[in-house]
Amino acid sequence: MARVLVTARLPGDPTERLAADHDLMYRDVDAPMPRDELLVRVAGVDAVVAVLVDRVDAELLDAAGSQLTIVANVAVGYDNVDLAACAERGVVLTNTPGVLTDATADLAMALVLMTTRGLGAAERRVRTGEPWGWSLTGHLGTSLRGRTLGIVGPGAIGLATARRAKAFGMEILLAGRSEPDPRAVEGLGAFVVGLLEVLRASDVVSLHCPLTAETRHLIAADELRAMKRTAHLVNTSRGPVVDEGALVAALESGEIAGAGLDVYEEEPRVHPGLLQREDVVLLPHVGSATLETRSAMADLAVDNVLAVLAGREPLTPVRA
Ligand code: GLV
Repeated sequence: MARVLVTARLPGDPTERLAADHDLMYRDVDAPMPRDELLVRVAGVDAVVAVLVDRVDAELLDAAGSQLTIVANVAVGYDNVDLAACAERGVVLTNTPGVLTDATADLAMALVLMTTRGLGAAERRVRTGEPWGWSLTGHLGTSLRGRTLGIVGPGAIGLATARRAKAFGMEILLAGRSEPDPRAVEGLGAFVVGLLEVLRASDVVSLHCPLTAETRHLIAADELRAMKRTAHLVNTSRGPVVDEGALVAALESGEIAGAGLDVYEEEPRVHPGLLQREDVVLLPHVGSATLETRSAMADLAVDNVLAVLAGREPLTPVRA
């Protein structure tokens, strides 16, 4: 019987499928497993179902032991995992692409709307009991029709966000490391340009690239300065893609008009300079957080574990 560790509570109940044929250690707790506990619990397991706040590095893999066969990350992003360390030890890594595309694109579009219409500040006003009344000139945001959305990282989620924005009448620019699917580009009537062009020409810049050594602080002081003073930045990818200190400085000096953020450099810490600002919308990393999507992610992670433990190919492997 293989031993499987699930480090945090999964939505739905996919664990029954794991428990049917395997020795399951299921930590039915929402909060991430403390590191010390993780290093102890992982010893001797064949499979780990991990969440994106679990750091899967050489230390953890060695604490598990050489029988460890698969780490199934319940996320599409896998910057929490040391790919080389997994490859060196012959550990299969899987992620959950596809199933969270729509939910995350919905959330990105929600942030586009929230930041361009100043909805965070507007909601706070009502909630805090501050006097308000309808007026022709109060809470004026900017319209989306005819404006340009720049997608940085035109993968599945970036393109799905672009399709939503197109339905709101936006023009689309795409920039990324790899060429987006030409049919998708054509369908969007989009233009593929360089990062600088996206920054200069967009009214909203939305980030969808994975976090890698190359994309850490991809958006820093110079990039923010290149943006229009009226532009908004939306980030649903990973916090460290943006230099948060530089973002606060750019907002303070009026270099950009606002930001909608779902992710932060050092989650769950949020830069204090952001917390005070009315021109930012701050969400607690909820991009894929719908019951249907998170359940599908958990199911896919479990399917990957079951496949690999049964000697079959993983469904959604991450290749080093
Ligand atoms: C969420 O942030 C994910 O990578 O799935």
